[in-house]
Amino acid sequence: MANLTKDFFIGLSNNRVLNESAKKWGFRMGAEKFVAGTNMDSVADTVHELNRRGICCTLDHLGEFVTEKEEALEAKEECIHILEKIHADELDCHLSVKLTKLGLDIDESFCIENMKELLAVAEQYGIFINIDMEDYSHYQQTIDVLQLLRKDYENVGTVVQSYLFRTQNDLEGLKDVRLRLVKGAYKESPDVAYHDKKAIDENFLSIAKQRLLGDAFTSIATHDHFIISELKDFVKEHQIDKDTFEFQMLYGFRNDLQFALAEEGYNFCTYIPFGTDWFGYFMRRLAERPQNMNLVLKDTFYT
Ligand code: FDA
Repeated sequence: MANLTKDFFIGLSNNRVLNESAKKWGFRMGAEKFVAGTNMDSVADTVHELNRRGICCTLDHLGEFVTEKEEALEAKEECIHILEKIHADELDCHLSVKLTKLGLDIDESFCIENMKELLAVAEQYGIFINIDMEDYSHYQQTIDVLQLLRKDYENVGTVVQSYLFRTQNDLEGLKDVRLRLVKGAYKESPDVAYHDKKAIDENFLSIAKQRLLGDAFTSIATHDHFIISELKDFVKEHQIDKDTFEFQMLYGFRNDLQFALAEEGYNFCTYIPFGTDWFGYFMRRLAERPQNMNLVLKDTFYT
């Protein structure tokens, strides 16, 4: 049953017609609980407020299915606007991007040029850019693009997913890279990914511990309090410097836990998605946690 529900929402997230239509609807079905706003000016207030509580942020200007160069160039311009606003408002904030939104499916070298332009602006302002990891069909390309960009820029990192079999083997080649560790949000074949929650969780813990004992900065991105609790014990036991890692969660999820971790003195970063292209992101969140449907039903029938 759980797998059927997950497949249903992942299916919706990949539906181009619904994604396109939703841009015109405005936020529906309770999406505003998980998507912070439609434009950078409104989102800057949210970032200010979280910064005031000692929480850093990473901004994601949402977008799916970019197939025209013009759309990718618009996305790049929006990212430059975000970087300028972060700098001008002195926000404690960095940027998360998806390579497909910057043209990866159109032409890899065009996407690389867009990324280089963004990284040059970000470097000038001292801002880090993280490349989100998308589905497995983009995995190797994402790693290759990252490694190429790192020849010229240090302010770039990416994401590894504990549901992939190959992540353990890829860690060595990424040992100097700032990484975000997640479980993985897409529907992948059993040929490449664990489907069993226990295996995904065990792999997450094993990768997190290896990274915490290594030199490069790691963002531990999960809402799973069992994993967070075990890693807090591990950090204490091994006297790991708190400035070598942070916890990350998505905007709108487990706010109490987000504030509690920040108050306990851990570096904490909230991932804030915004923009009109909210549908695919929102459906992936429902796929992960069908309990979020309660919020949808409440919004649909009681408001
Ligand atoms: P999971 O969903 O497995 O939940 C584990 C347990 O935690 C639950 O059983 C429950 O007990 C508790 N729990 C979880 N959510 C709760 C809630 N809202 N309230 C109460 N209890 C809750 N994926 C990807 O493929 N590429 C990417 O680039 C990213 N980027 C990214 C950034 C950030 C900051 C985060 C947090 C996540 C991502 N993801 C991602 C998504 C990620 O891969 C994954 O799908 C989700 O985080 C869900 O997995 P969790 O680790 O949160 O726990």
